[in-house]
Amino acid sequence: MTVESVKPETPGTSRKAAAGPAEPPVAGGAVPVFGHGLKLVRDPLAFMAQLRDHGDVVRLRLGPKTVYAVTTPALTGAVALSPDYIISGPLWESLEDLLGRQGVATANGALHRRQRRTIQPAFRLDAIPEYGPIMEAETHALTRRWRSGEVVDCTSESFRFAVRVAARCLLRGQFMDERAERLCGALATVFRGMYQRMVVPLGPLYRLPLPGNREFNRALADLHLLVDEIVAERRASGQKPDDLLTALLEATDDNGEPIGEQEIHDQVVAILTPGSETIASTIMWLLQALAAHPEHADRIRAEVESATNGRPVGFDDVRALTHTNNVIVETMRLRPAVWILTRRAVADTELGGYRIPAGADIIYSPYAIQRDPRSYADHLEFDPDRWRPERSKDVPKYAMRPFSVGNRKCPSDHFSMALLSLFTAAVATGFRLEQVAGSNDAVRVGITLRPHNLLVRPVAR
Ligand code: HEM
Repeated sequence: MTVESVKPETPGTSRKAAAGPAEPPVAGGAVPVFGHGLKLVRDPLAFMAQLRDHGDVVRLRLGPKTVYAVTTPALTGAVALSPDYIISGPLWESLEDLLGRQGVATANGALHRRQRRTIQPAFRLDAIPEYGPIMEAETHALTRRWRSGEVVDCTSESFRFAVRVAARCLLRGQFMDERAERLCGALATVFRGMYQRMVVPLGPLYRLPLPGNREFNRALADLHLLVDEIVAERRASGQKPDDLLTALLEATDDNGEPIGEQEIHDQVVAILTPGSETIASTIMWLLQALAAHPEHADRIRAEVESATNGRPVGFDDVRALTHTNNVIVETMRLRPAVWILTRRAVADTELGGYRIPAGADIIYSPYAIQRDPRSYADHLEFDPDRWRPERSKDVPKYAMRPFSVGNRKCPSDHFSMALLSLFTAAVATGFRLEQVAGSNDAVRVGITLRPHNLLVRPVAR
């Protein structure tokens, strides 16, 4: 996969016309002082989904701030593809303060382009098969560990799996086996705290020595310490395997000088953190979907068995598993890990005929876009067959882009889909899943979407 070049101007957007386009309407339901803030905090998914009824682009009042929400697939594509909208805004600022300013997920402009060039080879389609043996080993270790009839705590299991695979594939080295557990714990606490700081920005209150703040600070410090240890250990080993960490350590800036320690550190953090949280959340939803829709689990099993003739499913099989893929895409449509994205306008522009001033914050929700009844018949139905070619051709452009598009598109789309396919195929082939008493699969909104507390009982087939 290559970094998509950004077209200078994209459909739906243009620099401000001389006559001056209209202001977008203000969404209904704002209250004095808080504006739409309370509704957004109370039920963010429902709030984002109903905005489409107010217009294609609408203004929101969040306290004293005006934020522009974009509600159609075409305009979200236009925002993602336009160089006039950069990575910034509340979501990114909260990440930047905690995870560093020099990583690929938060950098902009020339620094971002250089960083994408450095990391891209590790995620290219032709690099993915190299990770096959690790993905297979981790997947089969997980299904071997599960005991028929014994309850699985899907949150810890999914995090553990996601962190181990990302760390072992991209950073290599046996040291990851011991550190994966620490990384899991630290990341879970850090993400919980970051979401809280984003939606309830109480600034100085988060510096008070309260138990929750202390736990958050400890987890964040441990995350940064772990990354330092990983980098220092690789340097001390003198080894240079062909992996992402070597690419980062050998990277040079535009003057040919080695990049600084801080940038290396921030890059590792910027790749590991989104990588683990998104994969873990998606895996939880896949487990929930397999339990809720046993007929699709059976179809996956039949598909895998006809591709493998009974041997354990391997990396090379996943391309043939079309129904498995459709179940994953449909799960990501209804329960996208990344449910909200933000940008900031760097120039006065026009979007869908409305004026967007320079400096404006823009938000859009893949969750809302992917559940829009104007794009999907029976929009709330779990129907993996809607992704068969004869039906998926009717889905509007940009109505299903869980990895986004444009120059910020997730570099890991091929990596992620291969891993998720292998995981889903192996689990559905080995077990029937059922949720048990005490399991709570209601959506928990954080930096990503995931079930509150999913507990399943695997029953060996
Ligand atoms: C189901 C799995 C995943 C989903 C749904 C997902 C989704 C996304 C999305 C939507 C973006 C774009 C954000 C934006 O437009 O503002 C993104 C960016 C990114 N993702 Fe992923 N991701 C996944 C897995 C991963 C993994 C496994 C890794 C790394 C190991 C990763 C690393 C990144 C990085 C570094 C960026 C920032 C790219 C940039 O700004 O240039 N992601 N991801």
